[in-house]
Amino acid sequence: MPPFSQLPLRCWAEIDLAALERNLRLIRASLPPHMRYVAVVKADAYGHGLPQAAARLMHAGADLFAVANLAEAAALREIGPGWPILLLSPLLPEEDRHLADYDLIATVSTSDEVRRFDAVGRASGRPVTVHLKIDTGMGRLGVWHEHAEKLCSEILAAPHIRLGGVFTHFASPDENPAFTAEQRRRFLKALACCPRLDLSQLFIHADNSAGLETLESAGPFNAVRVGLLQFGIVPRRDSLLAQVHTEPVFSFRTRVGIVKQLPRGTGISYGSTHTLARDSAIAVLTAGYGDGIPRAASNRARVLIRGARCPVLGRVTMDQTIVDVTDIPGVASGDECVLVGRQGGAEITVTEFSHWADTIPWETLCSVTKRVPRLYKTALGL
Ligand SMILES: Cc1ncc(COP(=O)(O)O)c(C=O)c1O
Repeated sequence: MPPFSQLPLRCWAEIDLAALERNLRLIRASLPPHMRYVAVVKADAYGHGLPQAAARLMHAGADLFAVANLAEAAALREIGPGWPILLLSPLLPEEDRHLADYDLIATVSTSDEVRRFDAVGRASGRPVTVHLKIDTGMGRLGVWHEHAEKLCSEILAAPHIRLGGVFTHFASPDENPAFTAEQRRRFLKALACCPRLDLSQLFIHADNSAGLETLESAGPFNAVRVGLLQFGIVPRRDSLLAQVHTEPVFSFRTRVGIVKQLPRGTGISYGSTHTLARDSAIAVLTAGYGDGIPRAASNRARVLIRGARCPVLGRVTMDQTIVDVTDIPGVASGDECVLVGRQGGAEITVTEFSHWADTIPWETLCSVTKRVPRLYKTALGL
């Protein structure tokens, strides 16, 4: 009996680590030289695989890694001892002590966190490094910008805490440059209210992928936090960032299970939400929402088979998706089908795929399920 890892692939993702490395180097080259690079690798490196993606980003010269939670940080610590790791999400009180075990940097938004992390530093005999987060209008984590001075003083007064950085997060950098500029102003004003800070010794960061577009080299900012763009996806179609020419890292593929002929008038899939308007050849693909093709893409998505675009017919089901191949000669069981990626001269981008499912590339990448093996292209290719 062959091990299951050697069975033929029915649905898989290909991850081009050389492209990831080239992307990081390109983004870096387009930034002012003093900018440090915080690689955001939460949610399994946006579904690309944390150990593989992070190892490559370490090689490519990331300065610091940002993850969402302790489990991700612990996994990262295993592959790269010594790398600074920032936790972006809040810790639960019972998780606090692991800050010291794994030597992590915590995000601070509240006085309660200052007290708790100070206690961890005291108990472990080594100060806990924190980044102060300032809420400049995201309405999520961080101390409200008008109250930042007080929290900053509490951090500086805590004997077992070391302040390593100050940051904020933009709410709509891809949609609302005016509000992004306002958030930047609020952040700079809050920093100015904390006069005891030596900004040159701290990581000062705000910009995620879309924020980079509004980044100015003047000012105290000396780091960026990049997620999506390093995976070759520009946050907005007409973004200036498209000029950085990053390449897609992720592609998503499946196969044709069967091809069959059906007469005009036949209803397709659950609920018969599509009725064939002509005698048709349909292909049943070996992937569905159980793999990460969103049900919301029913009757909307396109796939590539033999280099041609084929429309999805009817509802996406758990394990199968049905497409129209009437106009594509020779489609046969076993043919490769591209959900996201290139085939021949044609391409479907993550952004386009996401649009069909009424979602965003971030969610698409996080929604590819664990049933889907990730295959890594590891060539240096630089
Ligand atoms: C706090 C924070 N910083 C940075 C990022 C990276 O954003 P992007 O993937 O748009 O570059 C995220 C992503 O969700 C985030 O939550």
